[in-house]
Amino acid sequence: MKQKYLAALLVAGLATSAAFAQVKPEQQIEYRKSAMTVFARSTGALNAMAKGDVPFNKDVAQRHAAVLANLSDLPLSGGAFGPGTDKGAPHKSDAKVWSEPEKFKAAFDKFATAARALPAAAAEQGTLKTALADLGKTCKGCHDDYRSK
Ligand code: HEC
Repeated sequence: MKQKYLAALLVAGLATSAAFAQVKPEQQIEYRKSAMTVFARSTGALNAMAKGDVPFNKDVAQRHAAVLANLSDLPLSGGAFGPGTDKGAPHKSDAKVWSEPEKFKAAFDKFATAARALPAAAAEQGTLKTALADLGKTCKGCHDDYRSK
């Protein structure tokens, strides 16, 4: 009797840890949208400073630049576009994300490279502006190909 109880506990325990280990598709979809929201917030803040809509502030600029540089590979490395995350919740990723993963990764790498150049560029308004233009092309390029309207 006691053994049966222990066995049941063990099975329940294993089931629980498996559930934790495997992030559900809907959570991954939420995660990638959230990462994009963070990218957009920091890009927007930097753009405003680059254009002069708000006064350039080196500390603030470098903080947003660091966010983009450090989180740029999060969606891919975190499995947010991984196999099976094409369904599970409403989203706007194109089916090509999963049918041409190599090209999609290349688009992400371009973005990550541009994002990693930001912290150094954010020291001055002029260099920030140039680096942001490069970054913006990588956002747009990927959205044109991989985000549905
Ligand atoms: C390599 C591809 C890629 C790059 C680079 C990329 N995005 Fe995205 N982005 C996507 C895809 C795909 C979606 C759709 C996600 C979904 O709904 O599944 C998306 C969605 C978004 C969204 C909507 C999020 C939501 O809540 O629905 C915003 C905002 C966004 N991206 C901003 C940006 C910004 C700003 C950059 C650059 C700084 C950027 N993205 C770079 C692929 C990319």
